[in-house]
Amino acid sequence: MPTYVLYRTLSEMQPARAIEIPYEADFQLPIAALLKENAALTCIATPNSPSGHAVPLAELRQLAAGLTGVLAIDEAYVDFADETALPLVAEFENVIIIRTLSKGYSLAGLRLGFGIAQPKLLAGLFKVKDSYNIDAIACQVGAAAMRDQAYKTACAQQVKEARSQLRIDLKNLNFRVWDSQANFLLTQPPQNAEALYLALKERGILVRYFKQPGLDDKLRITIGTEEQNRLLIEALVHLVR
Ligand SMILES: Cc1ncc(COP(=O)(O)O)c(C=O)c1O
Repeated sequence: MPTYVLYRTLSEMQPARAIEIPYEADFQLPIAALLKENAALTCIATPNSPSGHAVPLAELRQLAAGLTGVLAIDEAYVDFADETALPLVAEFENVIIIRTLSKGYSLAGLRLGFGIAQPKLLAGLFKVKDSYNIDAIACQVGAAAMRDQAYKTACAQQVKEARSQLRIDLKNLNFRVWDSQANFLLTQPPQNAEALYLALKERGILVRYFKQPGLDDKLRITIGTEEQNRLLIEALVHLVR
């Protein structure tokens, strides 16, 4: 199962060699293979995209303990998940947690994210950081958003509830639906995924279709509002035979 494609793209822009180690069956983290490779930087997205599965904390701990390089844990979707790997930052000097305000805070346009790590690791990052900082407005807006945890948690809770309902509705339409701890569901429709993606697009409903091995028979469906989810299911009732 693939992961977030930007890791590969960004590494290709550097004098770096990207090594991709696929998940084992049922999204098992390939710990032995990752430890054997012992890369300078190991990236794990949890919850992962586009699968939506989360890697258990115990497995991330095992990985952090065995690696001599840096372990970057991408928690872009953590606000929709059951657990966070944050405790590992206190335990390991080589762990950095990466977060974004694009998902749980619905602030994708702000282009603001941050990392959490021990001072020694952060000092290394500051050495190569651009001398210009993120903009002052983004700092203010981001800080205000993060102060209002109650609002963010309530929004994430709505997404989680809608995710459970959408999962049931899609299963009733004979979709295979994977367990997800993110704000989307990876699904396998009972008919050609690309044709269904195009038919939905024609009706103004955008879902994600990846034309690549392992994913070209699947659709990644983002959890919308109650109304958007209802419109999606209504359209699918007509389209799925
Ligand atoms: C796993 C993962 N990490 C990070 C990001 C980056 O989000 P942004 O660039 O909006 O902060 C995304 C966005 O899709 C993602 O799926």
